[in-house]
Amino acid sequence: MGVTAGLRLVTQDDEGIDVAFRADVLSGLAQRQKAIPARWFYDRRGSELFEEITVLPEYYPTRTETALLRDHGAEFREDAGPGLVVVEFGSGSSVKTPLLLDAIDAAAYIPIDISGDFLRQSCAELSGKFPDLPIVPVEGDFMHSLKLPELAPGQARLGFFPGSTIGNMVPATAVDLLRSMRVTLGANAQLLIGFDRVKDTRRLIAAYDDAQGVTAQFNLNLLERINRELDADVPVEAFRHLVRWNPEWSRIEMHIEALRDVAFTVSGRRFALLEGETIHTENSHKYTPDQARLMLQASGWTPRRLWTDTGADFMLMLAEATEERSAP
Ligand code: AVJ
Repeated sequence: MGVTAGLRLVTQDDEGIDVAFRADVLSGLAQRQKAIPARWFYDRRGSELFEEITVLPEYYPTRTETALLRDHGAEFREDAGPGLVVVEFGSGSSVKTPLLLDAIDAAAYIPIDISGDFLRQSCAELSGKFPDLPIVPVEGDFMHSLKLPELAPGQARLGFFPGSTIGNMVPATAVDLLRSMRVTLGANAQLLIGFDRVKDTRRLIAAYDDAQGVTAQFNLNLLERINRELDADVPVEAFRHLVRWNPEWSRIEMHIEALRDVAFTVSGRRFALLEGETIHTENSHKYTPDQARLMLQASGWTPRRLWTDTGADFMLMLAEATEERSAP
């Protein structure tokens, strides 16, 4: 029992540089609309800042979803069943996880996360709370399909994808991920997934542009991380945090905006931004229940049940792998 060594799937070169991070930064900064994928926010510092975001007064998703998990445990167990292997995609600090593991009496827990240090730390904490639960961390990028450790052959898996992380992806990518989760999770899989709901634009913007400026630090930490890890000299003080609502795509966007014309080097390559030009760093798509259900159906999942709060801010959906494409 306890925490097993697990797998490490992050690739580094001779100098210890994460090659996937460097490739994404170099290609992202070479585009016309500069863009860096949001998953690179989560180094150790970024993961810590995200934990601070989750308790901000303006940031309702975490506390709302946590309350849903706390209040409906008995229903998850009724609907999903006991004795499942819980596979969490992007486990972070695993704050919500104990609620689910407790409620459904899980057989084992496999957290997948790109931030290895953070993953190991949260696994250690979790094994203190669940001394009899087998925990097998997998360090890697869940956007690519993974071969999971075989714990108990034939045991059905429940994918757990909380936090509205799915909202980071454009719908086409979200569908790719949901389909690959279905493959990763195997036969008789189920999925418990959180979606942030469409709501008043001012509340949405405030949630990503908090008064204390924690989200700004979280966003700008990406530049600090580039400087720390990719032999770069980005002048961070020449940039600011920028949040917008994009109604066409029903999403919050975070950008890093240049406050003046600026030039810098990353891993020996020169880049320049004009004043007002941005690096697009995150999308956070917001869904209606119908949109979420359609996306699940389009990805080979049959929605079974929806839980939401009285304010209709956030929703959890339980889905099961669709058996086969129905005729015609
Ligand atoms: C972790 C992707 C769900 O989109 O709300 C929070 C990340 N970014 N504040 C979100 C985030 C800025 C968060 N997700």
